Amino acid sequence: GTPASRSDIMVTLSIDGFDVTVPEGTSVMRAAAEAGIAVPKLCATDSLEAFGSCRLCVVEIEGRRGTPASCTTPVAPGMAVRTQSDKVRRIRKGVMELYISDHPLDCLTCSANGDCELQDMAGAVGLRDVRYQAPEGGALANHFAPRNTSGEANPEWLPKDDSNPYFTYDPSKCIVCNRCVRACEEVQGTFALTIDGRGFDSRVSAGSFGEDFMASDCVSCGACVQACPTATLQEKSVIEMGTPERSVITTCAYCGVGCSFKAE
Ligand code: FES
Repeated sequence: GTPASRSDIMVTLSIDGFDVTVPEGTSVMRAAAEAGIAVPKLCATDSLEAFGSCRLCVVEIEGRRGTPASCTTPVAPGMAVRTQSDKVRRIRKGVMELYISDHPLDCLTCSANGDCELQDMAGAVGLRDVRYQAPEGGALANHFAPRNTSGEANPEWLPKDDSNPYFTYDPSKCIVCNRCVRACEEVQGTFALTIDGRGFDSRVSAGSFGEDFMASDCVSCGACVQACPTATLQEKSVIEMGTPERSVITTCAYCGVGCSFKAE
């Protein structure tokens, strides 16, 4: 969900009819998780500050207008939340449909198949068909135009950035959830990544536009790769050998930052 609150003040609210008591400052999403209710999400994680960009985690709150994002909405005493109303289910499905309309349909041959949060969430919101098609063109376009239903690489997609020795960056698979950018800033404190462009043309960029990962301030810590929910940022070893059945995470003792490394 979202990072834990450290407050000593407790708040009780109701989520889908269940009473939940959590520390003040906890997000509705995290409170729901405490009650065993998994709200669909793409941009929120347990460790990064909530960002509220993917709009998949919307809920209804009695007495409040609209459908707020549960990851950025803090709990309040007596709050009554609905995470599974017809309205929020419909919104989530529509949002997911837009993501998939701008994403290659090559799941079966994708190196992240079976280990992809976008794939998991599409299933979780019950998405079966996509009605939209991504617009054509755009110098920064991270989408495919015209739509390529066979899943083959489209010449209009931005090329993969293979410059880093440990991981690749494939802009065609990016959903611009900002998790990599936040991980770079919050975990590593490097600020090597940013978002360029707007709307369909927005994409993650390593430093100034046109710069690849090796030329950027990236220190290859891998925090962005761990944070990525799709196959956009992926370890080269996973692409070459597949997702390991078993992995061990160790913490580097070289300095005080505490970077973690995954090994098979
Ligand atoms: Fe809440 Fe993305 S998970 S907006």
